[in-house]
Amino acid sequence: MYVKTERFRPFEKKLWLASPTMHGEELQYVREAYDTNWMSTVGANITAVEQLAAEQAGVKYAVALSSCTAALHLCVKLAGERLYSRPAISHGTLEGRHVFCSDMTFSATLNPVVYEGGIPVFIDTDRDSWNMSPTALERAFALYPDVKLVVYAELYGFPGNIQKIRQICHAHGALLIEDAAEAMGAFWADVPCGGFGDYAAVSYNGNKIITGSSGGCLLTNDISDANHARKWSTQARENAAWYQHEEVGYNYRMSNVIAGVIRSQYPHLEAHIAQKKAIYDRYWEGLRDLPVQMNPFDQTRSKPNYWLSAMIINPEAMCGQVRSDSEALYRPEHGKSCPAEILEAISGLNAEGRPIWKPMHMQPMYRMHEFITVNGSGRAKTNAYIAGSTEDIGADIFHRGLCLPSDNKMTAEQQERIIAVIRACFD
Ligand SMILES: Cc1ncc(COP(=O)(O)O)c(C=O)c1O
Repeated sequence: MYVKTERFRPFEKKLWLASPTMHGEELQYVREAYDTNWMSTVGANITAVEQLAAEQAGVKYAVALSSCTAALHLCVKLAGERLYSRPAISHGTLEGRHVFCSDMTFSATLNPVVYEGGIPVFIDTDRDSWNMSPTALERAFALYPDVKLVVYAELYGFPGNIQKIRQICHAHGALLIEDAAEAMGAFWADVPCGGFGDYAAVSYNGNKIITGSSGGCLLTNDISDANHARKWSTQARENAAWYQHEEVGYNYRMSNVIAGVIRSQYPHLEAHIAQKKAIYDRYWEGLRDLPVQMNPFDQTRSKPNYWLSAMIINPEAMCGQVRSDSEALYRPEHGKSCPAEILEAISGLNAEGRPIWKPMHMQPMYRMHEFITVNGSGRAKTNAYIAGSTEDIGADIFHRGLCLPSDNKMTAEQQERIIAVIRACFD
């Protein structure tokens, strides 16, 4: 069989999509935690992370937690309590309420909505930013005027017009939760991501722009909300000599050891972003005469952190590709390619690429949920998408797009080999 990329030798050591980049100083704070025996969920590293996270996002308070998912969960609970007060032992702050959610994101953005009994309604994606479409959100409010909560994620660290999203939310009396897990260090209109939401969350998961191996922070400007989140995260203990409880709690606090790693990663944030930008620029340069585009963004207002470089193939250059719920098949064609072929070629190099995050409205568990598109056309029924169409934009980007190896430690030479393999897919 004709194999376009057979001639390429694999890397000896696997090249990851995005792996932790350590600098050595991390050990100093970890060591300090060890030497002083602050090996639990209290200590100087946690206090330092909370200060750094709040400063970085330009908000007043940060609460250090075990993950961004935990942070989002407490964001949802705070919003739910503010909007619809519930009895303290209720598990479902949002029980039966519709919540507008980003469609093109990782499931952790909206899992907490479901933990709290909310019903996600998915909002289609803006073609020019791959983030939630403000036009589709306006349509959603026209269809569901009672909705009071929007959960919005910044995809791959390339901010869209979240200012407009915030205006729309506030015009409809709705609160905005900003999931900035992928976007720490990015800006929209000179405002840092994490600084737009009524509540926001950032992630220190191992693949993020800076990491503690895991961890996350909840961000807010309201001190009573910050204190409430901190209390929930430590099993909701009341101020008493014994274990006294008035509401349900969680074991969500960040460890002081992990905080030691995160604390010493912050000074490297700018350098990590510069490395990610160089990766994005090299792909842009190396692929620019192919029928593909890189992650789109507004060149004047959006300042990405370039966390994950991704590309999308022009419709006329797509070879045949079909996907079931777990497998992809494609038909090689001269002069054309598709994500399945390119991902196979990248994997053949011993490197890691990944399909675009599969939109939530296409996930089996959400098939029956409402999906609001830009023009009201609904879910795509086939693999035949129309270029630039406003019909099911998320499905179209998923069909034609893929994430490229974006590890900070990838050398320019290694990246050249990845670019050469991608180019060969279009032979
Ligand atoms: C958009 C988005 N939201 C939330 C999360 C969850 O973050 P964490 O792993 O810190 O819980 C992730 C990634 O892991 C993410 O990419």
